[in-house]
Amino acid sequence: MERRLLSLPEKRILRFPGKDEFLKKRPKNQRIALLRPLEELSVSASSTPKEESAVVPSANGDGAAPARRSRRATAASMAASQRDISVSEFFAKNRHLLGFDNPRKALLTTVKEAVDNALDACEEAGILPEIWVHIQRVGTDRYKVGVQDNGPGILKKQIPLIFGKLLYGSKFHRMRMSRGQQGIGISAAGMHGLLTTGKPTKIMSKVSRREPAHYYEIQIDTKRNQPEIVNGKGEGVEIPPNGLGDKLIEKHGIEWIDQDHGTRVTIELEAKYQRGRGSVDEYLEQTAIANPHVAIHYSDPDDNQRDYARVAEHLPPEPKEIKPHPYGVELGRLVSMLHETKAPTIAQFLAHSFSRVSPSIAKKLCTSIKVSTRANPKKIGRHEADQLYQTIQQTKIPAPATDCIVPIGEELILKGLRQVVPGEFYAAATRPPAVYRGNPFQIEVGLAWGGASPVAKVTREGLAELLEESDARTLRQFLITTFQGLGTEASDKILAAANVGTRVSPGRLKSADIDQLHTALQSINISEGQSMNVLRYANRVPLQFQAGACAVTQTVMSTNWRAYGLNQSRGGLPSGPITVMVHMASVWVPFTNESKEAIASYPEIQKELRLALQAVGRKLGMFLRRRLRVRHEGERRNLFLRYGGEVATAVSRINSADRDKLYQQLLDVARKRTAEADVELDDRGKPIEEEDYGDNVIIVSQEEAETVETAEEQE
Ligand SMILES: Nc1ncnc2c1ncn2[C@@H]1O[C@H](COP(=O)(O)OP(=O)(O)OP(=O)(O)O)[C@@H](O)[C@H]1O
Ligand SMILES: [Mg+2]
Repeated sequence: MERRLLSLPEKRILRFPGKDEFLKKRPKNQRIALLRPLEELSVSASSTPKEESAVVPSANGDGAAPARRSRRATAASMAASQRDISVSEFFAKNRHLLGFDNPRKALLTTVKEAVDNALDACEEAGILPEIWVHIQRVGTDRYKVGVQDNGPGILKKQIPLIFGKLLYGSKFHRMRMSRGQQGIGISAAGMHGLLTTGKPTKIMSKVSRREPAHYYEIQIDTKRNQPEIVNGKGEGVEIPPNGLGDKLIEKHGIEWIDQDHGTRVTIELEAKYQRGRGSVDEYLEQTAIANPHVAIHYSDPDDNQRDYARVAEHLPPEPKEIKPHPYGVELGRLVSMLHETKAPTIAQFLAHSFSRVSPSIAKKLCTSIKVSTRANPKKIGRHEADQLYQTIQQTKIPAPATDCIVPIGEELILKGLRQVVPGEFYAAATRPPAVYRGNPFQIEVGLAWGGASPVAKVTREGLAELLEESDARTLRQFLITTFQGLGTEASDKILAAANVGTRVSPGRLKSADIDQLHTALQSINISEGQSMNVLRYANRVPLQFQAGACAVTQTVMSTNWRAYGLNQSRGGLPSGPITVMVHMASVWVPFTNESKEAIASYPEIQKELRLALQAVGRKLGMFLRRRLRVRHEGERRNLFLRYGGEVATAVSRINSADRDKLYQQLLDVARKRTAEADVELDDRGKPIEEEDYGDNVIIVSQEEAETVETAEEQE
């Protein structure tokens, strides 16, 4: 075939003709859109596309009358349909962005938004949180979620806006660590409820024992993003204090656990309740790990009551609100801050609007950009603002104060993990605070190794329920999606042991098969086939979805765990009976989307994550190596002990030495040489006996030595 298709002259021919060229070539009677009279172009908005046909040159170029092709829409007709989109209309259409992408997740998100708000409110008010979560089944796919707290309550006039308007809240504009930050959470849950069941959100709130409580039924007008009060003729209902309102509470069917102050929100929604991974139960359990100061009373749709008791009797220290750090403020933001400030001079603006800018640093910045310290910030021009921005980046300003973030702390992480995750070795590491885009943050990691996997804990009835509820298509899929840390390898092992087909549908399993599966779950050692269980937290809130998109999972996977004695395939999670809990505390957690499920991968965050994971990894490595050594030395000692008696008897026969004395001496040597076998390790993998016994000491437990002697005597 000739390969000259793209030679230059041809290329020129292929070129689309320029306007002039085109006009010259066009037949005389041909009209083109460019030359259409003005009145023809300004079609009224109501005109139909047919009427707006534009004339285009005939395709065959034979000079025949041009074909009229209808234009679908004009700028004018399009203008008629261009208008504002209210934020609630947007999110009603895009509910998946807020975590309402399927009925199961919708239930979790609703509970989560209400519980997170309750915890935030209690902590902000300095009240030890007590939370009641009640989920009731009210129809096949319909549930009623009620969440009550003992928080400070909400002022009457604020209730409609908080629950019936998207993007309304107290946390967005401040720089302070809290669970919520966007001002969408609870109103979005209410909106989802309204759209799926038509039922309004019901709120009862009380600010003190002596004042009346308020009961509102609110729905959001999505077109306007405004609340509508549906009860009490649009005014809500006032419930008198001191027991006088009890009848009213009963009349309105309000479920209210008598408290001096607090808020109860009830949302009815289309949802699905299912235990296992990513469930409400898991969320509450993980919340209890990271919030030992919280008491939770949970009643599930099957009326099972579960209480998570308070482990720590004190609230975490109050995080302080800070101002933005100048390094993290982008130029556009700086310009608008200059424009909006009430400060009379630029020096005051700098010192008051930013954290860590002292009057002397403010003065230095003004001098660098050659502006008087008394200049009016509103009159600072674009060019000067740009210079100011550049100068800020080059000036040494102390790192932001870090009392705005409160980590959980190594002690409490260990306590929390130990309570929920069984294991033999626990370690924790809290990194010093760091900064990304001007926002302070802190990373902490807890690690638990060993112990039975959660699959061994499940009861026969629990398993039957899980199987019935599951929507997994195959048993294998059921095992992987239901139990944390269970990989394909371990699942296959279990299914082989249970002798049930991998492709059987979980809901169709016969009773005998369930028995077999349960026995297999209990008895199979799956620690090797198990993959690391990663618990992710952001500002003490467990993150249960989008693990793959999260900086935490990505960093865990890219860490080399083989260096710490674990098996790991390239770029995957390490395997073994191991749970890692990672917490990011920050004044602003950079979530990848509005449903707050994954943390964005800023390099600064990844670096801190890596360092924290390495810190616990090193400790685990030490422990595992030591454990190996202990096991090895234990085996050596057993050998000594096994043959020590015989050697002593034989030697005493040969040279008439005192057999018992000789045996004792041999035992001493054995103890000394295998001292490592007795080392007991603490939480952090360190030997509990810190004293250095040196080479000449052995510690063999009396018990072990005696057992061997008696066994030998019996021989
Ligand atoms: N139980 C409650 N007690 C007291 N105040 C509350 C309660 N629930 C919500 N609020 C107030 O209502 C505001 C709006 O809550 P919402 O959940 O919509 O947003 P947020 O918590 O600020 O942010 P996010 O969208 O990230 O959850 C909160 O900022 C808080 O001031
Ligand atoms: Mg919230």
